[in-house]
Amino acid sequence: MSQSNSGNDALLDVTQLSKRFGGNVVLQGVSLTVNRGQIVGLLGPNGAGKSTLLSAIAGELRPDEGSVIFAGKQVGSKSVPERCAMGIVKIHQEARSFRSLSVINNLRVVHPGGPRKHWIGGNESQSFEVLRSLKLLDHAYDLAGALSVGQQKLLALARALIREPVLLLADEPTAGVNAAIAGVIKQELRRLTEQGRGVLLVSHDLRFLSEICDRVIALDLGLVVAAGSVDAVLQNEKVVSAYLGRRT
Ligand SMILES: Nc1ncnc2c1ncn2[C@@H]1O[C@H](COP(=O)(O)OP(=O)(O)O)[C@@H](O)[C@H]1O
Ligand SMILES: [Mg+2]
Repeated sequence: MSQSNSGNDALLDVTQLSKRFGGNVVLQGVSLTVNRGQIVGLLGPNGAGKSTLLSAIAGELRPDEGSVIFAGKQVGSKSVPERCAMGIVKIHQEARSFRSLSVINNLRVVHPGGPRKHWIGGNESQSFEVLRSLKLLDHAYDLAGALSVGQQKLLALARALIREPVLLLADEPTAGVNAAIAGVIKQELRRLTEQGRGVLLVSHDLRFLSEICDRVIALDLGLVVAAGSVDAVLQNEKVVSAYLGRRT
Protein backbone atom coordinates (compact mmCIF):
# COMPACT_ATOMS: atom_id res chain seq x y z
CA MET A 1 0.00 0.00 0.00
CA SER A 2 1.07 3.55 -0.64
CA GLN A 3 1.50 5.81 2.31
CA SER A 4 -1.38 8.24 2.75
CA ASN A 5 -0.47 11.71 1.56
CA SER A 6 -3.38 13.66 2.96
CA GLY A 7 -2.20 16.67 4.88
CA ASN A 8 1.53 16.13 4.38
CA ASP A 9 4.04 17.46 1.88
CA ALA A 10 3.64 14.81 -0.83
CA LEU A 11 3.07 16.42 -4.19
CA LEU A 12 3.48 13.32 -6.30
CA ASP A 13 2.86 9.78 -5.13
CA VAL A 14 3.47 7.09 -7.73
CA THR A 15 2.60 3.57 -6.65
CA GLN A 16 3.45 0.26 -8.33
CA LEU A 17 3.48 1.62 -11.86
CA SER A 18 3.94 -1.01 -14.57
CA LYS A 19 4.06 -0.67 -18.34
CA ARG A 20 4.85 -3.08 -21.13
CA PHE A 21 5.07 -2.57 -24.86
CA GLY A 22 4.14 -5.93 -26.36
CA GLY A 23 6.46 -8.39 -24.63
CA ASN A 24 8.88 -5.69 -23.51
CA VAL A 25 8.36 -4.91 -19.82
CA VAL A 26 9.51 -1.30 -19.46
CA LEU A 27 8.30 -0.37 -15.95
CA GLN A 28 7.94 -2.96 -13.20
CA GLY A 29 6.12 -1.81 -10.08
CA VAL A 30 7.80 1.58 -9.79
CA SER A 31 6.91 3.60 -6.69
CA LEU A 32 8.25 7.02 -5.78
CA THR A 33 7.26 10.27 -4.13
CA VAL A 34 8.20 13.89 -4.70
CA ASN A 35 7.44 16.30 -1.89
CA ARG A 36 6.74 19.99 -2.20
CA GLY A 37 10.01 21.90 -2.30
CA GLN A 38 12.02 18.87 -3.42
CA ILE A 39 14.10 18.01 -6.46
CA VAL A 40 14.20 14.25 -6.94
CA GLY A 41 16.69 12.91 -9.49
CA LEU A 42 16.14 9.91 -11.71
CA LEU A 43 19.16 8.15 -13.16
CA GLY A 44 19.80 4.92 -14.97
CA PRO A 45 21.29 3.62 -18.23
CA ASN A 46 19.67 4.21 -21.62
CA GLY A 47 16.53 2.13 -21.96
CA ALA A 48 15.99 1.90 -18.18
CA GLY A 49 12.48 3.37 -18.52
CA LYS A 50 13.08 6.92 -17.26
CA SER A 51 11.32 8.72 -20.13
CA THR A 52 8.47 6.21 -20.07
CA LEU A 53 7.97 6.88 -16.36
CA LEU A 54 7.77 10.64 -16.96
CA SER A 55 5.33 10.08 -19.86
CA ALA A 56 3.09 7.99 -17.61
CA ILE A 57 3.08 10.70 -14.91
CA ALA A 58 2.33 13.40 -17.51
CA GLY A 59 -0.53 11.32 -18.95
CA GLU A 60 1.03 10.77 -22.39
CA LEU A 61 0.70 7.04 -21.98
CA ARG A 62 -1.46 4.85 -19.81
CA PRO A 63 0.31 2.48 -17.45
CA ASP A 64 -0.95 -1.12 -17.31
CA GLU A 65 -1.00 -1.03 -13.52
CA GLY A 66 -0.43 1.38 -10.69
CA SER A 67 -1.59 4.79 -9.57
CA VAL A 68 -0.44 8.38 -9.89
CA ILE A 69 -1.65 10.72 -7.16
CA PHE A 70 -0.91 14.41 -7.59
CA ALA A 71 -1.64 16.89 -4.80
CA GLY A 72 -3.84 14.30 -3.13
CA LYS A 73 -5.91 13.51 -6.24
CA GLN A 74 -5.87 10.43 -8.45
CA VAL A 75 -4.96 11.65 -11.93
CA GLY A 76 -4.83 8.29 -13.72
CA SER A 77 -7.90 9.00 -15.82
CA LYS A 78 -6.95 12.59 -16.68
CA SER A 79 -5.62 13.74 -20.07
CA VAL A 80 -2.33 15.57 -20.65
CA PRO A 81 -4.05 19.02 -20.87
CA GLU A 82 -6.04 18.29 -17.71
CA ARG A 83 -2.88 17.32 -15.82
CA CYS A 84 -1.08 20.37 -17.24
CA ALA A 85 -3.89 22.61 -16.00
CA MET A 86 -3.44 21.05 -12.55
CA GLY A 87 0.27 21.93 -12.68
CA ILE A 88 2.01 18.80 -14.02
CA VAL A 89 4.30 20.15 -16.75
CA LYS A 90 6.87 18.16 -18.69
CA ILE A 91 10.02 19.13 -20.56
CA HIS A 92 10.55 16.54 -23.28
CA GLN A 93 13.92 14.95 -23.79
CA GLU A 94 13.98 16.33 -27.37
CA ALA A 95 13.40 19.97 -26.24
CA ARG A 96 10.45 20.53 -28.57
CA SER A 97 9.69 24.01 -29.87
CA PHE A 98 8.04 25.72 -32.84
CA ARG A 99 11.17 26.17 -34.93
CA SER A 100 9.61 28.62 -37.40
CA LEU A 101 8.27 30.92 -34.67
CA SER A 102 10.32 33.50 -32.81
CA VAL A 103 11.53 32.69 -29.32
CA ILE A 104 9.04 35.06 -27.69
CA ASN A 105 6.15 33.69 -29.74
CA ASN A 106 7.10 30.18 -28.63
CA LEU A 107 6.15 31.34 -25.14
CA ARG A 108 3.02 33.19 -26.24
CA VAL A 109 1.67 30.54 -28.61
CA VAL A 110 -1.73 29.10 -27.77
CA HIS A 111 -2.60 25.83 -29.47
CA PRO A 112 -5.67 24.19 -27.99
CA GLY A 113 -6.30 22.01 -31.03
CA GLY A 114 -2.75 20.76 -31.56
CA PRO A 115 0.21 22.42 -33.25
CA ARG A 116 -1.49 22.86 -36.69
CA LYS A 117 -3.93 25.42 -35.34
CA HIS A 118 -2.38 28.06 -33.14
CA TRP A 119 -2.36 31.77 -32.47
CA ILE A 120 -0.21 34.20 -30.53
CA GLY A 121 -1.83 35.28 -27.30
CA GLY A 122 -0.47 34.39 -23.91
CA ASN A 123 0.86 36.86 -21.42
CA GLU A 124 3.40 39.09 -23.14
CA SER A 125 5.02 40.72 -20.11
CA GLN A 126 5.27 37.39 -18.28
CA SER A 127 6.85 35.85 -21.38
CA PHE A 128 9.52 38.56 -21.50
CA GLU A 129 10.08 38.12 -17.78
CA VAL A 130 10.75 34.39 -18.21
CA LEU A 131 13.16 35.12 -21.08
CA ARG A 132 14.95 37.66 -18.91
CA SER A 133 15.44 35.24 -16.04
CA LEU A 134 16.78 32.59 -18.44
CA LYS A 135 19.13 35.10 -20.11
CA LEU A 136 17.37 34.62 -23.44
CA LEU A 137 16.08 38.17 -23.78
CA ASP A 138 18.63 39.08 -26.47
CA HIS A 139 17.22 36.24 -28.58
CA ALA A 140 13.52 37.11 -28.15
CA TYR A 141 13.03 37.83 -31.86
CA ASP A 142 15.32 35.09 -33.22
CA LEU A 143 13.67 32.10 -34.82
CA ALA A 144 13.62 29.19 -32.37
CA GLY A 145 15.12 26.98 -35.07
CA ALA A 146 18.21 29.20 -35.22
CA LEU A 147 19.12 28.75 -31.55
CA SER A 148 22.10 26.70 -30.38
CA VAL A 149 21.51 23.36 -28.66
CA GLY A 150 21.97 24.98 -25.25
CA GLN A 151 19.61 27.84 -26.05
CA GLN A 152 17.03 25.32 -27.31
CA LYS A 153 17.21 23.66 -23.89
CA LEU A 154 16.67 27.05 -22.22
CA LEU A 155 13.69 27.67 -24.48
CA ALA A 156 12.23 24.28 -23.55
CA LEU A 157 12.56 25.25 -19.88
CA ALA A 158 11.03 28.67 -20.60
CA ARG A 159 8.04 27.00 -22.30
CA ALA A 160 7.56 24.88 -19.20
CA LEU A 161 7.95 27.79 -16.76
CA ILE A 162 5.34 29.91 -18.56
CA ARG A 163 2.83 27.19 -17.65
CA GLU A 164 3.64 27.74 -13.96
CA PRO A 165 4.41 24.15 -13.03
CA VAL A 166 3.55 22.86 -9.59
CA LEU A 167 5.41 19.66 -10.50
CA LEU A 168 8.03 19.95 -13.24
CA LEU A 169 8.98 16.73 -15.00
CA ALA A 170 12.32 17.52 -16.65
CA ASP A 171 13.76 14.90 -19.03
CA GLU A 172 17.49 15.53 -19.46
CA PRO A 173 17.14 19.35 -19.40
CA THR A 174 20.92 19.93 -19.40
CA ALA A 175 21.99 17.36 -22.01
CA GLY A 176 24.49 19.00 -24.37
CA VAL A 177 24.55 22.42 -22.63
CA ASN A 178 27.63 24.31 -21.47
CA ALA A 179 28.40 25.09 -17.82
CA ALA A 180 26.96 28.61 -17.98
CA ILE A 181 23.60 27.38 -19.27
CA ALA A 182 23.58 24.49 -16.79
CA GLY A 183 24.05 27.13 -14.08
CA VAL A 184 21.01 29.08 -15.30
CA ILE A 185 18.92 25.90 -15.39
CA LYS A 186 20.08 24.96 -11.90
CA GLN A 187 19.10 28.38 -10.57
CA GLU A 188 15.61 28.15 -12.11
CA LEU A 189 14.97 24.65 -10.75
CA ARG A 190 16.02 25.85 -7.30
CA ARG A 191 13.75 28.85 -7.59
CA LEU A 192 10.80 26.51 -8.24
CA THR A 193 11.51 24.52 -5.09
CA GLU A 194 11.87 27.70 -3.03
CA GLN A 195 8.29 28.43 -4.08
CA GLY A 196 7.18 25.05 -2.72
CA ARG A 197 6.97 23.37 -6.12
CA GLY A 198 8.49 19.99 -6.93
CA VAL A 199 10.82 18.70 -9.64
CA LEU A 200 11.42 15.19 -10.96
CA LEU A 201 14.65 15.42 -12.92
CA VAL A 202 16.13 12.86 -15.31
CA SER A 203 19.83 13.38 -15.90
CA HIS A 204 23.04 11.53 -16.69
CA ASP A 205 25.05 14.39 -15.22
CA LEU A 206 25.96 13.00 -11.81
CA ARG A 207 27.58 16.20 -10.65
CA PHE A 208 24.50 18.23 -11.57
CA LEU A 209 22.30 15.69 -9.79
CA SER A 210 24.44 15.71 -6.65
CA GLU A 211 24.44 19.52 -6.58
CA ILE A 212 20.70 20.04 -6.74
CA CYS A 213 18.81 16.89 -5.78
CA ASP A 214 17.43 16.16 -2.35
CA ARG A 215 17.68 12.49 -3.29
CA VAL A 216 17.94 10.35 -6.37
CA ILE A 217 16.33 7.15 -7.57
CA ALA A 218 18.15 4.68 -9.83
CA LEU A 219 16.16 2.77 -12.41
CA ASP A 220 17.35 -0.27 -14.34
CA LEU A 221 15.26 -2.43 -16.65
CA GLY A 222 12.14 -0.71 -15.33
CA LEU A 223 12.89 -1.44 -11.68
CA VAL A 224 13.91 0.90 -8.88
CA VAL A 225 17.28 -0.59 -7.89
CA ALA A 226 18.45 2.06 -5.42
CA ALA A 227 17.42 5.33 -3.79
CA GLY A 228 19.15 7.87 -1.58
CA SER A 229 21.96 10.38 -2.03
CA VAL A 230 23.88 10.36 -5.33
CA ASP A 231 26.98 9.05 -3.56
CA ALA A 232 25.08 6.24 -1.84
CA VAL A 233 23.28 5.25 -5.03
CA LEU A 234 26.54 5.16 -7.01
CA GLN A 235 28.01 2.77 -4.45
CA ASN A 236 25.11 0.39 -4.89
CA GLU A 237 26.35 -2.67 -6.75
CA LYS A 238 23.16 -3.01 -8.83
CA VAL A 239 23.63 0.54 -10.08
CA VAL A 240 27.31 -0.04 -10.85
CA SER A 241 26.58 -3.21 -12.82
CA ALA A 242 23.68 -1.55 -14.67
CA TYR A 243 25.99 1.23 -15.85
CA LEU A 244 29.13 -0.81 -16.47
CA GLY A 245 27.53 -3.98 -17.73
CA ARG A 246 25.39 -2.58 -20.51
CA ARG A 247 26.93 0.71 -21.46
CA THR A 248 26.65 1.17 -25.23
N1 LIG B 1 6.27 3.84 -27.54
C1 LIG B 1 7.05 2.79 -27.34
N2 LIG B 1 6.80 1.61 -27.95
C2 LIG B 1 7.58 0.53 -27.73
N3 LIG B 1 8.67 0.53 -26.92
C3 LIG B 1 8.97 1.66 -26.29
C4 LIG B 1 8.19 2.85 -26.45
N4 LIG B 1 8.73 3.83 -25.68
C5 LIG B 1 9.80 3.27 -25.07
N5 LIG B 1 9.95 1.97 -25.43
C6 LIG B 1 10.99 1.06 -24.93
O1 LIG B 1 10.98 1.15 -23.53
C7 LIG B 1 12.30 1.03 -23.01
C8 LIG B 1 12.58 2.20 -22.12
O2 LIG B 1 12.66 3.38 -22.90
P1 LIG B 1 12.81 4.81 -22.25
O3 LIG B 1 11.73 5.02 -21.25
O4 LIG B 1 12.90 5.80 -23.37
O5 LIG B 1 14.22 4.69 -21.49
P2 LIG B 1 15.21 5.81 -20.95
O6 LIG B 1 14.51 7.12 -21.00
O7 LIG B 1 15.56 5.38 -19.58
O8 LIG B 1 16.40 5.77 -21.85
C9 LIG B 1 13.22 0.91 -24.21
O9 LIG B 1 13.49 -0.46 -24.39
C10 LIG B 1 12.39 1.46 -25.34
O10 LIG B 1 12.76 0.86 -26.56
MG1 LIG C 1 14.96 8.88 -21.99
